[in-house]
Parts: sequence; structure tokens; C-alpha cells
Amino acid sequence: VKRIPVITESHHYDVFLDAGLLAEAGALLRSELKLQGEKLVVVSAETIWRHWGEALARSLDIAQLQWHSLLVPDGEQAKNFLTVERAAEQLVALSADRSTILVAFGGGVIGDMAGFLAAIYMRGIRVIQIPTTLLAQVDASIGGKTGVNLASGKNLIGSFHQPECVIIDPLLTNTLDDREFRAGLFEVIKCGIITDPSLFQLLESEPDRILAREPAYVTRCVEASVRIKSGIVSKDERESGLRRVLNYGHTIGHALEADTHYSHFLHGEAVAWGMIAAAQIGTEVGISDEGTAQRIRNLILRYGPLPPVPDDSARIAQVTFSDKKTIDGKTHWVLASRIGSVEICSKVSFGVITNAITHIQKISQAQ
Ligand SMILES: NC(=O)c1ccc[n+]([C@@H]2O[C@H](COP(=O)([O-])OP(=O)(O)OC[C@H]3O[C@@H](n4cnc5c(N)ncnc54)[C@H](O)[C@@H]3O)[C@@H](O)[C@H]2O)c1
Ligand SMILES: [Zn+2]
Repeated sequence: VKRIPVITESHHYDVFLDAGLLAEAGALLRSELKLQGEKLVVVSAETIWRHWGEALARSLDIAQLQWHSLLVPDGEQAKNFLTVERAAEQLVALSADRSTILVAFGGGVIGDMAGFLAAIYMRGIRVIQIPTTLLAQVDASIGGKTGVNLASGKNLIGSFHQPECVIIDPLLTNTLDDREFRAGLFEVIKCGIITDPSLFQLLESEPDRILAREPAYVTRCVEASVRIKSGIVSKDERESGLRRVLNYGHTIGHALEADTHYSHFLHGEAVAWGMIAAAQIGTEVGISDEGTAQRIRNLILRYGPLPPVPDDSARIAQVTFSDKKTIDGKTHWVLASRIGSVEICSKVSFGVITNAITHIQKISQAQ
């Protein structure tokens, strides 16, 4: 079992990672958290529970842990206060107290909601993350960001609440549908672009094996990404500076998601287009050379297809100015100087942004 530390000011914990690790989750929790009869409440959703509930249940039972399951509605629409409030009422009904530990067992939606519930239930109880989507394994489960959506915007309510540990079994991604799996891979590609040329090369040289989800290859992709996210979060828990590099491709990605009312792209797909656009911006402002941009573009398209880009580039460019990562009215663009290294640039003109969006529209039409 790989053990990857996350060391933040508020909490030190480990990410445990191995193919097949779900079967040992119970034993791992018992030994690592030194449990002595504390109650666990597994927060999950129907689909996830249908695929993997029995395996988790067996592992918790073998370790003789005391646990309950609490299934909540899944999906971005259900990621709201009401779902959290209802789950909190169910915790009360289960006699959950301050020693109870939540186990978030699902994708990023479940992880964010259960993490938030743990952050506020009785002013804060412990949570363990067991992510089941590729996106949640490489990104959402690590770093302690938790929250829910408001009608007026995504993730506007939330809290930092670091987990006690994160247990990652890359084999859980086997039951994801193809689009969800590829959407997660785009975040893996992002990790390669921002800090890891050898991960980028692996993605370039083995697309068939990775897309076929050969366990050894999926595990390598997940491990490399987890090391990057854990390392960055350890240096910058609250996203004051360094953590921003994780937003590579996200400025235009978020604009595409918002412009299409979050119904057209999966997050990773929007980020995929955003990364191609960012690579183009990088060459236009002279931060990166054309060769780098081309490698980024080719790699992303190899893991496509992607849903088409809507056709009003000025309108989408406008949305980038209202991105919530804007600071003092300035959009901070993360741009790759070469594979594995990025720079922050706040001087990108409206024209350059519009051109980059026109660029991805052209690629989209040719796809
Ligand atoms: N906290 C963070 O740092 C952070 C980072 C990135 C994203 N997020 C959040 O994560 C959410 C997106 O997460 P996501 O992409 O995991 O989507 P998701 O949680 O909506 O899961 C996608 C779908 O896959 C299903 N599913 C989950 N695991 C499965 C499995 N093993 N097999 C089959 N189906 C499975 C789910 O039921 C769901 O229908 C967003 O709400 C986003 O805001 C949070
Ligand atoms: Zn993302």
C-alpha cells in the first residue's frame, strides 16, 4: 500500500493508495485511526452502493467495525443545503454524536457534501474520504475543500475540513462510464502539464492501455496525480498562491461550463477545452513555444472526443472576467512555459482570450 502524506497547517493525514485496497479499507481504518468502537456512518448514493457497497460492507464487517449506511441523492442538482440538512437529521436518528466518523463513499459530489456535513454536524466531526470516481481520486478527495451549491452559483457555500485519511482504490473506476472516466483523465493530463513531464509522457505513449483501464496504468496515473495534488495542498492549504496552478485550463473551462448552464460538458471536458485554449494563449503572449502548445493539444484530443464548443467567442471570453478565482478584478491565467512548468500571468488582453476561444471552436468543428 502506498502512503502519501498531506501535511497542512490544520491537519496531517495520509492518502493510502493501492489497486484492490477497498477490501482492506476496514482493517486499514481500524489500525490507522486506532478506532475503539466509534460509530462509522458511510455516506453514499444508490449507484455507487449498487456497484461497490457490498465490497465495502464486507471489509468493514471483517474488521468488526460498527457502521451504518446513509444513502443520499446524487448528482450536481442534489448538491445543496436540503440534502445536507436531511442527512443531518438522519445522523441524529442514528444517534450519531461527536465521536462518530463519516465515510464519504462516492464521487466529488458525495465527497463535497459528506465533507461539508462533517464540517458542520455538531460543530465538526471527523470524515474519511473513499473516492469512487477518477476525478474524485485525483482531485476532489484531497485538500479538504467541502461544500454545496446555491441556486445562484456552484460551491458558494462551504468550508475547509481536512479528512482523517483518504483511501484510494483505482479499480473502483472500472464501473464508471466511458465519458466520466475520460473526464477524470483530463485532470490527470493537467497534473502532467503543470508539474510532471514523465506523467505527460506516460499519457502520450500509452493511450490505448490507459483508455482500456489496464489496472497498472490507471494506478500509475492516479498515484502520480495524487502525489502532485497532495504536495501542492501541503504547501498551500487555503489556495493563497501555489494552489492556483491547479487551475490550469480552468478559467476558460469554468466559462464554458457556466455559459452552457452546467449541462453540456462534464467538468473535465470543459477543462480539456480550457487547457487547449490556455496553451494557445501561452503562445500568443510569448510564454510558451508552439511545440508545447501542440503537444498539449494533441494529447487532449487523443483522449477525446469532446462535446462541441458553443459559437460565441466574445460572450464566453466575457464570462472569464466573472470567474470566482478573479482577485481584485484581475484574472490570473495559469500558462505553461513548457511541459511540467507553469507561470501566472495577469496581463492577457480580451482579444487574446477571444482568439483562443475561436481557436478551440475551429478544432471543435473539425473534430
Ligand atoms: N473539493 C474539491 O477540491 C473538488 C475538486 C474538484 C471537483 N469537486 C466537485 O466534484 C464534483 C464532481 O465530481 P465527480 O466528477 O466525481 O462527479 P459525481 O460525484 O457527480 O459522480 C459522477 C457520476 O458517477 C457516478 N459514480 C460515482 N462513482 C462511481 C463508480 N465507481 N462507478 C459508477 N458510477 C459511479 C455517480 O453516481 C455520478 O452519477 C463537483 O461537484 C465539483 O464541484 C470538488
Ligand atoms: Zn477541475
